Amino acid sequence: MSEEKKLTTASGRPFYEKEDSLTVGRRGPILLEDYVLHESMAHFNRERIPERVVHAKGSGAFGTFTVTNDITKYTRAKMFSEVGKKTDMLARFSTVGGEKGSADSDRDPRGFALKFYTEDGNWDLVGNNTPVFFIKDPKKFADFIHTQKRHPFTNMKSQTMRWDFWSLNPESLHQVLILMSDRGTPYGYRHMNGYGSHTFSMINANDERFYVKFHFKTDQGIKNFTDEESVKMAGENPDFAQQDLLEHIEEGKFPSWTLKIQVMPEEEAKNYEWNPFDLSKVWPHSDYPLIEVGKMELNKNADNYFAQIEQSAFAPAHIVDGIGYSPDKMLQGRLLSYPDAHRYRLGANYEQIPVNRCPYAVNNYQRDGFMTVTDNGGRSENYFPNSFDNITKAEEYKQKPPRVTDAEADWYDRNASVSGDDDHYTQPGNLFRLMNDEAKSNLVKNTVGSMSQIDGPKKEQITQRQLMHWYKADQELGERIAEGLGVKIKH
Ligand code: NDP
Ligand code: HEM
Repeated sequence: MSEEKKLTTASGRPFYEKEDSLTVGRRGPILLEDYVLHESMAHFNRERIPERVVHAKGSGAFGTFTVTNDITKYTRAKMFSEVGKKTDMLARFSTVGGEKGSADSDRDPRGFALKFYTEDGNWDLVGNNTPVFFIKDPKKFADFIHTQKRHPFTNMKSQTMRWDFWSLNPESLHQVLILMSDRGTPYGYRHMNGYGSHTFSMINANDERFYVKFHFKTDQGIKNFTDEESVKMAGENPDFAQQDLLEHIEEGKFPSWTLKIQVMPEEEAKNYEWNPFDLSKVWPHSDYPLIEVGKMELNKNADNYFAQIEQSAFAPAHIVDGIGYSPDKMLQGRLLSYPDAHRYRLGANYEQIPVNRCPYAVNNYQRDGFMTVTDNGGRSENYFPNSFDNITKAEEYKQKPPRVTDAEADWYDRNASVSGDDDHYTQPGNLFRLMNDEAKSNLVKNTVGSMSQIDGPKKEQITQRQLMHWYKADQELGERIAEGLGVKIKH
């Protein structure tokens, strides 16, 4: 037994009357002065904070990243400075469209959000378990997500909304194909890969920029539920992935992932056959092979889910010296969106919450605001520059500026015919063609199961539009889905 402690109010007053209210006579009523009762009820009423608008259901754990291969010719980021170097980290995995109480096994992409507590600040890599995404312009994000949420009238999820949007936005096909394959229902969080998805930059000590893609390959091996198994699991144990991750870590069976990168020298980006900043495309491994970097191991559960996982806040904008953004429009949109979401969900001082706080020096002139829980700069000056505190601009951390051309500003068509931007079919088709027979059959079956739920007056129009996309990716794929739906493709 641990040392005995006394119950106290939030203000620290030890008290006894925890379970019985102060009443006039044995049978009540209650006196207004029972502050312990008020405090209990009032705090309870404020326990819920807004859930994440997407990725609301999730699980997380702490761990360690260890460098196994020297990549200093690409980046000067201190985290990668030498083989063997270890960095503390946090991971949060999630589903996307469901609410906080939804089932872990639902067909959905999985979030793969990482926070590395590096000595040059926290670096967040906020990716998914797929290398591509449904859209490629952030202006379309809110509309897209609405189709994954509940219908305004029925208050139910709607396959009609989803397939309507996907069929009207053919750039979604690559991600939709992965979603409809068995990788759309991973067996928990340990058996899936993670991808930074966007193109990022690495900058080396000579200030040279390389474009990079991050791939975290699961060391547990890929393992998925079939569609039937995922539906069954949603009923039997909607928290399957949470339990699976938590228990393996508690038992010392630490899951790990191997980080690999693809690297494209800055100059090559101009002439590559695919637009390297188009989030609906991958860089084929034959063009840009995977280079090993290190290992991420999750080895410590959070002691308190709300404090450390629910309140965690990841932002693609959080980079560190030696790592940079790219012109990917989606990434550019996300740079603004996440800190804005955190200020709404957790408050202006969300970076003071211990799980989000940089464990190294934080020196700035941000002051005050709701929930200021640090010393708020103490007695020191609250303006820059000043003659007193000796805080200087970090000269040695000057950033390499992004290269912006003097092109005309315009609302450029995201799918215009430039370096493969309008080719929504070759890469998904390649993926279908490399699948084995079982994976192909399951893809067809899962897609038929989902598309057969398209309903209402536009059913035929939406179905035909989407069938054409499948057909253009691969004739066999289109024909097998049409056959499964019992319709003929109208060419
Ligand atoms: P490769 O044969 O070198 O790579 C194929 C990739 O496909 C592997 O990374 C493999 O991942 C992955 N894969 C296998 N089955 C699935 C699935 N059901 N869902 C998602 N990914 C899967 O070929 P290329 O690099 O030329 O790529 C061919 C196609 O593979 C691409 O068009 C793309 O659709 C897909 N892909 C490519 C990736 C890339 O970065 N180049 C990354 C992921 C997918 P694993 O090794 O984990 O089994
Ligand atoms: C969560 C916006 C695209 C991965 C979120 C949140 C917002 C958001 C507002 C909630 C943040 C919070 O409350 O903490 C957007 C926008 C996008 C976009 C505007 C496109 C323009 C993407 C893409 C990926 C991704 C392309 C992956 C490659 C994630 C993940 C989370 C998340 C993993 C959960 C992070 C966590 O675990 O806390 N997104 N998103 N998002 N997003 Fe996106």
